[in-house]
Amino acid sequence: MMAVFNSFEFNVAGTSLAIPLPLIVNVIISFGAFYVGQHLIPRMKTMFINANLFGMDMNKATKIRIPEAFGVVTGCIFLVSLFLFIPMPFASNFSKDGTDEFPHHKFVEFIAAMLSICCMILLGFADDVLNLRWRDKLYLPTIASLPLLMVYYTNFNSTTIILPKFVSNILGSSLDIGALYYVYMGMLAVFCTNAINILAGINGLEVGQSLVIAVSIIVFNLMEICVGNSREAYEFSLYIMLPYLGSTLALWKYNRYPSQVFVGDTFNYLSGMTFAVVGILGHFSKTVLLFFIPQIINFIYSVPQLFHFIPCPRHRLPKYDPKTDLLNCSKTQFRLSDLNILGKLCYNVFKTFRLIQATENKDGTITCNNFTIINFAIILTGPIREDRLNRLLLIFQVLCSVLAFTIRYPLAHYFYDTIN
Ligand code: UD1
Ligand code: MG
Repeated sequence: MMAVFNSFEFNVAGTSLAIPLPLIVNVIISFGAFYVGQHLIPRMKTMFINANLFGMDMNKATKIRIPEAFGVVTGCIFLVSLFLFIPMPFASNFSKDGTDEFPHHKFVEFIAAMLSICCMILLGFADDVLNLRWRDKLYLPTIASLPLLMVYYTNFNSTTIILPKFVSNILGSSLDIGALYYVYMGMLAVFCTNAINILAGINGLEVGQSLVIAVSIIVFNLMEICVGNSREAYEFSLYIMLPYLGSTLALWKYNRYPSQVFVGDTFNYLSGMTFAVVGILGHFSKTVLLFFIPQIINFIYSVPQLFHFIPCPRHRLPKYDPKTDLLNCSKTQFRLSDLNILGKLCYNVFKTFRLIQATENKDGTITCNNFTIINFAIILTGPIREDRLNRLLLIFQVLCSVLAFTIRYPLAHYFYDTIN
């Protein structure tokens, strides 16, 4: 069908560059996704409010209703883009003489990736509508990653990990960890989804951080293709990440400060699952995790509250001061004697290393900031405007991506012979 034009050749500074036709079509579809999102989102705002899908912006003086869960619109545009793209990388493989050259394993991977992302959108939307408990939020990504894990089992079932040089003398250069590899992949999906969801609460932060991670993955894929590494796997990742970028940029336009729409947990789950899916199927999950450095720091910092060693309020987002129009740390209050041994330990360690700002009140209670890096940033800067705080946190995310590339390229060669 399209065997005649499989790629387009360009001449850049004397070297010829072949860009595959599917990639060109994918870029066009991604622009289309941005265009559709940009027009659809504002038109659907009242529809969401009428369906009681709205939230109050807690960091604004005027309490207006902001439509919530717009991740479902972005998710649908993203999925439709992927649906439209299906024939492209595969149609050229239909041979006219009847010989079967069709890459069934690649095709089923692409379908499984879409199935997991689709399943995550459904479960994320269910969470937004039903307001599930925290416990249940952990199960959802595990369920949604099942199609992917099953396909991985039937397709690759490669559960071998490459070991760093310093242990390879003892254990060999690689180790087959069997079922544990599936536990790792399931946990990767749970981590990626929830880590984005708990680094949230100021306008544009959820979408902003996802955009930085997406661009980092795209740059990484392009770099790997340019140096000639496993072209197929990285192209596959690009085919998913570019439409994601297109549809998410449209959402950013309306979610950035001052937010006209909220993204809801649907978007956070959809993003985390997309990153996990490309990492798993492209065999670069460790590199994906490297792009999550701020989320990993926020998760570790949050552990005492997430596991309820220290009381955790429903919302930990910063506290708005209407008099100054600035954000302050949000706080939690407790009695040291009410904490269990782990709570006391966490409190003392965090206080000793000045990771929290705590005050002892006259009535014997302790007030300290909620354990998120958003609040920690406010401790460092003092009261700050919401848009400035968001910009600072996104700059931090970009700097961490630069660090991730430094770890991945120059430094990793000291630790690994082969890297993925
Ligand atoms: C997670 C966080 C919670 C944080 C919330 C903010 C943990 C354990 N949970 O909960 O601390 O407060 O995200 O999204 O860390 N909102 C704003 N401005 C924004 C974004 C959201 O005011 O820019 C408010 C709105 O009222 C919105 C609500 O947050 O309706 C959405 O919260 P939701 O996503 O349901 O909270 P969780 O994900 O459960
Ligand atoms: Mg949320």
